[in-house]
Amino acid sequence: KRHLISAADLSRDDALLILDTADELAKISERSIKKLPTLRGRTVVNLFFEDSTRTRISFEAAAKRLSADVINFSAKGSSVSKGESLKDTALTLQAMGADAVVIRHGASGAPHRLAGWVRGSVVNAGDGTHEHPTQALLDAFTMRRRLGSLDGRKVTVVGDVLHSRVARSNVLLLSTLGAEVTLVAPPTLLPVNVDSWPCEISYDLDAVLPKSDVVMMLRVQRERMNAAFFPTEREYSRRYGLDRDRVAKLHDDALVMHPGPMNRGMEIAAEVADSPRSTIVEQVANGVTTRMAVLYLLLGGANLGGEDQ
Ligand code: CP
Repeated sequence: KRHLISAADLSRDDALLILDTADELAKISERSIKKLPTLRGRTVVNLFFEDSTRTRISFEAAAKRLSADVINFSAKGSSVSKGESLKDTALTLQAMGADAVVIRHGASGAPHRLAGWVRGSVVNAGDGTHEHPTQALLDAFTMRRRLGSLDGRKVTVVGDVLHSRVARSNVLLLSTLGAEVTLVAPPTLLPVNVDSWPCEISYDLDAVLPKSDVVMMLRVQRERMNAAFFPTEREYSRRYGLDRDRVAKLHDDALVMHPGPMNRGMEIAAEVADSPRSTIVEQVANGVTTRMAVLYLLLGGANLGGEDQ
């Protein structure tokens, strides 16, 4: 495949190849080998029209660890603020010889459009409320490292599904990998077409928790919502927040995940986010390895050898 735009485009074999490659890269990095020569001479452009901490930095780290040249582009401070279109921005980057463009954009579908304008590979780093496939891959990688195979595993995704590209990509990828996903959310924070998603729906978090192997909390995306349709912070936390009492309902090996950034005290209590069963920091570290695997496979890097630099 040339692009990674949607988790829906990944077959089970594609997804397993990425996760297995990430495993191999993790093993190389555990041998204290910080940098591989595989993408030497290639250029990766990070094209970010929306804010990001984890995704932007981890794509940069991933490309650099594979020895690619990296160009970071942020819409703020660029000619986008003078009205330059996505197409003209893309053609400018193309002229500079981008082999891969990693794009985050507020408009769902922007990476798909971009793929029609550039010759290199396009990687979706989050588009509107549509998809964030590398987040789903790093989440699956994290679950697999902790729990083994995802076949038959029960994953509960909780919160603002309506605005969450992370939820959609996770539901698609996890179902491809054989996990059983349940979404728990207020009815007003579920997409209208959620019945067509490959998952179950519940409105009762306390009933679902004891059966879950993983509980993934989503950020409440206030910046994307009309305040009139949103419950108060207190009401939301009481019904859908993960606090110490709710964590006590989980079985001993169950994981707590969050893609970040978190609203501590709202969808997740600080003590839960910082507890041993939380994988939140591990997810960030795994993000670098998983994105290395994606760039390596899309750009057809040379064999993974593990060469000290
Ligand atoms: N999880 C995630 O996409 O975080 P950033 O918005 O900081 O990249």
